[in-house]
Amino acid sequence: MSEHWWRDAVIYQVYPRSFADADGDGMGDLEGIRSRIPYLAALGVDAIWLSPFYASPQRDAGYDVADYRAIDPRFGDLGDFDRMLADAHAAGIRLIVDLVPNHTSSDHEWFQAALAAAPGSPERERYHFRDVTDPEVPPNNWQSIFGGPAWTKTDDGAQWYLHLFDSSQPDLNWDNPEVHEEFKSVLRFWLDRGVDGFRIDVAHGMVKAPGLPDTGGDGTIEMIGTTQAPFFDQDGVHDIYRTWRPIIEEYEGDRIFVAEAWTDSAERRSLYLRPDELHQAFNFDLVLAPFRAVDFRKAIDSEIANNAGVGAPCTWVLSNHDVQRHVTRYGGGERGLARAKAATQLLLSLPGVVYVYQGEELGLDEVLDLPAEVRQDPSFHRTGGEQIGRDGCRVPLPWAKEGVSLGFGPAGEPWLPQPAAWSDLSVEAEDGVPGSTLEFYRQAIATRKGHKATGLTWLADPGEDAFAFDNGALVAVVNFGDEPVPVAGYGTEVLLASADLADGHLPGGAAVWFAK
Ligand code: BGC
Repeated sequence: MSEHWWRDAVIYQVYPRSFADADGDGMGDLEGIRSRIPYLAALGVDAIWLSPFYASPQRDAGYDVADYRAIDPRFGDLGDFDRMLADAHAAGIRLIVDLVPNHTSSDHEWFQAALAAAPGSPERERYHFRDVTDPEVPPNNWQSIFGGPAWTKTDDGAQWYLHLFDSSQPDLNWDNPEVHEEFKSVLRFWLDRGVDGFRIDVAHGMVKAPGLPDTGGDGTIEMIGTTQAPFFDQDGVHDIYRTWRPIIEEYEGDRIFVAEAWTDSAERRSLYLRPDELHQAFNFDLVLAPFRAVDFRKAIDSEIANNAGVGAPCTWVLSNHDVQRHVTRYGGGERGLARAKAATQLLLSLPGVVYVYQGEELGLDEVLDLPAEVRQDPSFHRTGGEQIGRDGCRVPLPWAKEGVSLGFGPAGEPWLPQPAAWSDLSVEAEDGVPGSTLEFYRQAIATRKGHKATGLTWLADPGEDAFAFDNGALVAVVNFGDEPVPVAGYGTEVLLASADLADGHLPGGAAVWFAK
């Protein structure tokens, strides 16, 4: 056990609308989460990261916050939150909440006050408003991450306001001290309630280059795999975190910040992890990497080297609510699932922290064929369907083999339809079944607990598209190729294998851990 829990934890992302629905309205809620804490405890996770549950018009599934101190009635109320947190803590599970500081919802009282006030007023100074000179020409060439221009005009046509995401998500002006004070107060609100930390949404955003200069090219910037831009990864953002760190340190219980910071290198990402800033930053390099030994090894080496430089843990991720589920990224079907399990087993043997996205422990795939009329992601609608959007990884979890929502809720159609085939991937179908993905995750997480990595030393490759390493506690071999590779030389006692070994060979798309 390391000195700090967050240096080697397994953290499970709960996406509240799609996890469990207690009241039967077709959308998940906090009471649903509370009721499933025993499931998470049995899975063996150390903490939950909870995506937003705040009061919100839900135009970006809650990443458009109207009130940072209130629970959206669809999800429950503060009493439900406190009960859920108490149950999680009683089960030995910590809880990290999502903080969205780059933008508010346009329903937030600050933005409503800004619209009601005049240009140049203190109310408008909390956001980025600019005068309209030519109604056809926005103040700069920035494009919304969700498609279309990043500027929208006020109803009277006098000013533009900036929104890097949907037009219902105006960007806050972090040059304004009032914005800083408000977020410090929001941090304290949730810390006082007992949360164990915050996942910071768009942690590389917030600070904009002075004068809001054009980006190069046509102004289009991808969120995923982004490069530095006048609105992303500006050096000034680090000053904000230096004011937040002392606040969290005031509280007992080893609480943390984890950054969602899309940067163009592991080196720039590690800057967020300097000792007076944040504790973790998701490493999305493996989300972007093709399933190939050479790409995985490069991403692993780079993360380890850069994070060691700032004394921060590596933070491994394969899936979340913004990206295609990794079973599907790796080709789908049996092969995709086999590779996904191998990749997960690999992550669980790397030094550092592992994030698991709800449903991956069931082997869920991306739902690719959702009809346009049920899709809710603003990126789908703002691009006329050109960007398919993220609804396919947000489909409600199947808990039971049967029923209108496969046990997601007691009644009511789920907010996104589930594929019929998910009956076989439900918790009920997999629980206690040897060889199921769920039992594999449980076993892998349990085995990891007794074999915590202390480092990583590469061993000789067992094959062209395969690698092996010693993490100080076990020897791991991962085969990214399709042909079996010989592994007898790496150990004799198998601790866990994502697929059966045959004649001393590890099949393609599989991983094995040997006792040292
Ligand atoms: C969140 C997305 C969200 C966006 C805007 C992202 O980083 O993870 O789900 O749409 O920020 O808040």
